[in-house]
This record gives sequence, C-alpha cells and structure tokens, in this order.
Amino acid sequence: MQFENTREFAQQLDAQDPLSEYRDEFIFPRVNGKEVIYFTGNSLGLQPKSAQKYVDEVMKDWAELAVEGHFYADKPWWDYHERFSGKLAKIVGAKAEEVTVMNTLTVNLHLLMVSFYRPTAKRFKIICEEKAFPSDQYMISSQVRFHGLEPDEAIVELKKREGEHHFRTEDILAKIEEVGEECALVLIGGVNYYTGQVLDMKTITEAGHQAGAFVGWDLAHAAGNIELKLSEWNVDFAAWCSYKYMNSGPGNASGCFINKKYHGRKDIPRFEGWWGHNKDRRFLMEPEFQPEPTAHAWQISNAPILALAPYLASLEMFDKVGMPALIEKRNKIVAYLEYVLHEIDKDVESSFEIITPSSQKERGTQLSVFLHGEGRGLFNFLMDKGVITDWREPNVIRLAPAPFYCSFEDMYNFGQILKEGILKKQVQG
Ligand SMILES: Cc1ncc(COP(=O)(O)O)c(C=O)c1O
Repeated sequence: MQFENTREFAQQLDAQDPLSEYRDEFIFPRVNGKEVIYFTGNSLGLQPKSAQKYVDEVMKDWAELAVEGHFYADKPWWDYHERFSGKLAKIVGAKAEEVTVMNTLTVNLHLLMVSFYRPTAKRFKIICEEKAFPSDQYMISSQVRFHGLEPDEAIVELKKREGEHHFRTEDILAKIEEVGEECALVLIGGVNYYTGQVLDMKTITEAGHQAGAFVGWDLAHAAGNIELKLSEWNVDFAAWCSYKYMNSGPGNASGCFINKKYHGRKDIPRFEGWWGHNKDRRFLMEPEFQPEPTAHAWQISNAPILALAPYLASLEMFDKVGMPALIEKRNKIVAYLEYVLHEIDKDVESSFEIITPSSQKERGTQLSVFLHGEGRGLFNFLMDKGVITDWREPNVIRLAPAPFYCSFEDMYNFGQILKEGILKKQVQG
C-alpha cells in the first residue's frame, strides 16, 4: 500500500480499520486536556473500561459472601485461575492444559528453573542473550549461584556481531552447537525488549533440543503481541507478564506454559503448594501432594482474585477479537509509523535510525528508534506534548502502537510533534 503522510490519509486508514471501535474501550490519560498518544503498551497497557466492572464484582462478592465467595460467587474463586487457561492458550498457541496463571514473571521463571535447570557436573551451562532484561540476568545468575556454580563459567551469552543491532539465528545455532553437551538450558527473551527483534523460536528450540538441553522462553514482550505456537514448536516452558500488551494492570499476574509432556512426570521436580494439589481433594487437607494432571500442578498459593479480575476483563476482549486480527492491524500501523518516521527524517537535519528489524516476520508492535544527534530534551518535549514513550540509554526511544487502542491518526500526529521538537532545537541551536 502506498502511504501518505497526511492527516486525511491517516483518517482514511482509521475509517477502514475493523478494530477502530476498540479504542473507545480503553481509558486514555490526558495531557493539557487532550488524550495522549500512547506508545508504552509494551511497558504497561492502558486500562480497559471493563476492568472496573470485574473488580467491582469481586469486591461485591467479598462484601456479600465473604469466605463463601470461594464457592458461591458468580465466578467462584477456588478455580478462578482456570478461566484463564483456554483464553491464554489461544494467545500463545498451546493446549489449555499447558497454561496456567500465577505469581509474577520473574518468580515464575525461578520456579520453572527449579523444574528445568538441574545442572550436572557435565551439563551445567545456560545460554541466554547478552544484555537480557536485567531481571532475567539477576534471575539466571542467582540460580547458577544457588547450585554452587560460578556465573562466569555457567552462563554463556549470545552476542550480536560488532556494529549490528540484531542477533543472527545462524550465530545462535552455532553457539548452541558449540556448547553442546554442556548445555543444560537455553533461556532467551522471545522478543528482545530493547530492539523489538523477534527471534526464530521454532528453529532455536529445535537446536536446543538437538543439543540435549531444555528450552524456555521469556515472553514478556511477545505474549499478546506476536503469533506464538508454543505447543507446535515443542517449547519446554515459557512465562510472560500480562501488564504489557495484555492490559491487565500494573504488576499483575504472569502466565506460564509447561509442555504437556512434563505433566505428571515424577522426574521433573517442582516447588509445590496446595493450589497445585488435585482440585477435587484440595480441601481435604491430605498430607501427601497429589498434583493436578495439568500445568496447574505448578500453582502454589491460592490465587489473588482482585488482581486477576482486571486481567480476565482484558482477556475477554482478546478472546473476542483474536490474535490474527490484532496482528493484521499491528503490521499495518507499525508499517505506517515506520513510513512516517522516514518521511520526517527527510525534513530534519539530525537523523534517526530504526534499530528494530524492518521485516514484519522479525518484529512485533515495537519500533526502537536511535535518535542520533538528539538528547533527552526531545524526549521531554514529546512527553510535554502528550506523547507517552520511553527512553533507554543511549538515546533510544521505544514506540509500541498497541493495535487495540492506537490509531493511524496518532501516528500522523506523532510525526508532526516529533518534527516540531527536532526543528525547534535546530532553530535554537
Ligand atoms: C523481558 C522481561 N523479563 C522480565 C521482566 C520482569 O517482570 P516482573 O517484574 O513481572 O517479574 C520484564 C519486565 O518488564 C521484562 O520486560
């Protein structure tokens, strides 16, 4: 499609957008009385209007039923978490029984490593990406130290080539082969949080298995953003947070995928608690743990219903719209944003470089832009003008136009504000 950098053209795209009505289902913060242009759905998604109703419902049940709410609430609390499995499974390409919702992301990755990182004298190395999200770095290092090993010896970081912004699949495969029999686990972010690069999870998972290792994925930036086929790719485990593209609310619960082949296996250890116990016998308070025959066996504590309520509200919307429609709009709006950026770049002296891959297959909703010759002043200017984006050292802004609620006109308006900010600085010298 031939794009145009005009308001009329952007409005035309909005008029043709089958998801445009969903914008009104979200609450936008305001700056100077105007709704913001929200680019940080990759950090914290906007609040769906329906979230309040779901929270109110739990508050009401708690007030009116108190402990009886566990069984007699409209959505009983004792198995509330089970409502998530089918809906999340569609989002991550899994079977419902392979998915559960619990805790938070880093906690779940730790718990999954209890099951899938069991180093031996020979096989003890973890392959992860260089400059992984800091929480993952701390998590992996502390796991290694917990097993009495040295991070320097046990952690192998995948590197980008000098001067390049992206990991090359061939380099990742070569590293997995090189580590070979020493490799216990491959654990990488499926979508890189900094550049937005989508890794070839299918091929990397196969290679990890070829080397005899377990393969897990941190899907914080992938779930609700890109197409995932965790079952088909034979991934061992994965976890993601829900407060980014899944609009569940700050710090909300994480989802986990545990491949069906590990359910009920006695040789896969787990940290256990009563919520993973056979649900029909959970309240019999028996001394011996009898695991649920699904991913719910990894549950430990009773679920935080008040937190899960807005997450469920959001998932209902995902279920209604479906990932294919979201991905179709995402591809178009990201391509339009990319086009607008290139058009603005022609009109200004300083240049910016998009460090996210240009191919749709290798990117999702996020474009990371290196602002050569610009400083934090431009970021502050954007924020003052109601463009909510984020800043990463050195000089990178990340723009993630979530397809649920961002419009094509937002992209056009953003381009105009960006140009104004850059030209203003150039005039001021
Ligand atoms: C890639 C990645 N991993 C891990 C985390 C940590 O998430 P949590 O604080 O929910 O444990 C984040 C948070 O943004 C993230 O982006």
